[in-house]
Amino acid sequence: MTVSTLAFTGKERTTSEQPVERLQLDVGALEAAKRSLEKGAVTPSYGPWREDIIALLNDALATEIVCTLRYKRHYFTAKGVSSPKIAEEFLVHANEETAHADLLAERIVQLGGQPDFSPDTLTARSHAEYDGSEDLQAMIRANLVAERVAIEAYGQMIKLIGDKDSTTRRILESILSQEQEHADELSDWLTD
Ligand SMILES: [Fe+2]
Ligand SMILES: [Fe+2]
Repeated sequence: MTVSTLAFTGKERTTSEQPVERLQLDVGALEAAKRSLEKGAVTPSYGPWREDIIALLNDALATEIVCTLRYKRHYFTAKGVSSPKIAEEFLVHANEETAHADLLAERIVQLGGQPDFSPDTLTARSHAEYDGSEDLQAMIRANLVAERVAIEAYGQMIKLIGDKDSTTRRILESILSQEQEHADELSDWLTD
């Protein structure tokens, strides 16, 4: 942009020679929003990333379901002196992972997608792994690995989505902060 300097009451002021960009709505897109009602919450300004974002959300949904199953397995089978308190936390985590899955499924539907709950492909689509450990410390370690994978995946998704879909980004940010709390708790319980 070219900028010129003007003399004005003894002080220097700068002004642009080019027209200033105006903040105005796209009226054509507002009109278009009145049509295509089958698209529900998805309007013309959404951009071309809908299918990619739905695919990312479906992989995250699979991850949350696998994490729920892993924590449930650990909750019901944890043994040992320190296990009751930790097992209770495994259950708290299981329920929070289920809540994350519900948020993701709800958002997928809002975007006009199909949430994929198919058990046949869950472990292949999940970023984190199921775990059948019987030792409490091995359970804690497996959960910490899974949480760290989830944290990395959500961090990458948030960067990819950026300002392309602020609602999805806010949902992912809220889930990410809870995964970070999970990882922090688990790392406190690791004894080696
Ligand atoms: Fe989660
Ligand atoms: Fe978690």
